[in-house]
Amino acid sequence: MATVSLSSSKPVSLKVDALVVGVAKVKGGGFVVLPGGEEVDKALKGRIAETVAAMGNLGNPNEVSKLSSLGATTAPIIVAVCLGKAVDAGRGRPSYGPEVLRRATGAAARALAGTAKVGLALPAGTPAEVAAVSEGALLGAYAFRTYRVTSTERNRPPVEAFTLVTDAPRDKANKAAVERAHTVVDAVHLARDWVNIPPVDLPPAELASRAAAAAKAAGVAVEVLDEKALKKAGYGGTLAVGMGSSRPPRMVKLTYTAGRGKPHLALVGKGITFDSGGLSLKPSTAMEWMKSDMGGAAAIIAATTAIARLGLDVNVTAWAPMAENMPSGTAQRPSDVITIYGGTTVEVMNTDAEGRLVLADGIVRASEDKPDVLIDVATLTGAQLVALGARTSGVMANDAALRTAIVAAAESSGEQMWPMPLPVELRTAMESTVADISNMGDRYGGMLTAGLFLKEFVGEGIRWAHLDIAGPSFNDAAPHGYTPKGGTGHAVRTLVRLAEDLAAGDVPEA
Ligand code: BES
Ligand code: MN
Ligand code: ZN
Repeated sequence: MATVSLSSSKPVSLKVDALVVGVAKVKGGGFVVLPGGEEVDKALKGRIAETVAAMGNLGNPNEVSKLSSLGATTAPIIVAVCLGKAVDAGRGRPSYGPEVLRRATGAAARALAGTAKVGLALPAGTPAEVAAVSEGALLGAYAFRTYRVTSTERNRPPVEAFTLVTDAPRDKANKAAVERAHTVVDAVHLARDWVNIPPVDLPPAELASRAAAAAKAAGVAVEVLDEKALKKAGYGGTLAVGMGSSRPPRMVKLTYTAGRGKPHLALVGKGITFDSGGLSLKPSTAMEWMKSDMGGAAAIIAATTAIARLGLDVNVTAWAPMAENMPSGTAQRPSDVITIYGGTTVEVMNTDAEGRLVLADGIVRASEDKPDVLIDVATLTGAQLVALGARTSGVMANDAALRTAIVAAAESSGEQMWPMPLPVELRTAMESTVADISNMGDRYGGMLTAGLFLKEFVGEGIRWAHLDIAGPSFNDAAPHGYTPKGGTGHAVRTLVRLAEDLAAGDVPEA
């Protein structure tokens, strides 16, 4: 992964391949150069603003203009990235939120792929700005190149090293912000990589062994249940979904122990390594993204490694049921009845509603330990995309304060999540004629029905939330800000922030 180091050197004399400065659009046309870029602008005779306009920059957020320094700085290239409209924060100083800064830095980092060393002459006057710029740079410096063989020239490698210029490079809070950014973004990249790996190479056993390796490297205890162990313990949801595949299911359990008396966070993540729909086969276009159906498992596992590396004061138990949902002569059939871990029976009316079956196993098992908070994360429904679009996850919960805390953690970490209800009337349509519950419900409100289904499996009195990340976990469209095409690592940053909030006692009871 790329690195960020802090320096108080003058940006103009940094030995780098390119320098990034920020600009903002001002009322009445024109640009201003943002704090951090003054020196560079002076070296260019105060002409960055007019040059950016002349180069055709329209002033949209994340719009990048590459300029030649013409020898005015050691770096041959200046990249001016626009943060959008300059909002006056008083005394003529422009203001911008952390996410604006994060995205713009990420866009600059992406535009500089193929460049080894980059100086960042961006706003970095506070630890919050140092954090935002560091995170944006590292998140933007990502490429999944494992399968590039003869096309490496056309796919340029990400930036290797950023030097972030700040007045206080030895300030404790600034240094901590950079270190945290490395740890968190490392985890985000891990989740992105796992989603991007082609499903042929990531059957449940492979995902489980990669999870185990990542956990061990972070000092997290691991237990992997194979198909025999799953059978013995009665994980009927995971087994049923996995039985159509020649590659058997797994359950991964991670345990990070911070110490007695600390809050206990349980995580459950959907790990469908490929979702064909099973016998309720998806149309082929709907399968195009389905290697991302383990995005929830990737997020909770990656987040747990980051939480451990940061040494947060919260005990974490993470459960990731993993299965490949395939049609075959051994696959489960629509109208089969299966038994979830703990005994509840489910009539499987549609084998494509498989996520809730594996999650039910995980949620019941996680509940046995009576965690203070239980969160499941899943690419669960197409209805999430219909309701909230491709970039905003739905947050459902049996506890309003927890739901609010998660949405707030998402907001502060730069992920888009929004509260959604669990209307009880949707439960009626899940009545089964033969089993305790059906895995299908009403025609409308599919995201909420899936949430209500999961709620049935949460242990008595446990504060629980469900994140439907179907759209946000995979970027099918063009890259934007610090977000690449493909796996996004969505939910990792929110989970780490929530763990920090839990450790600090900042997640109030309802
Ligand atoms: N993995 C899909 C949900 C999904 C859809 C994720 C699009 C990412 C993008 C899930 O297993 C699924 O197939 N859900 C069905 C449920 C339905 C059969 C009740 C859906 O949303 O159509
Ligand atoms: Mn499905
Ligand atoms: Zn699925």
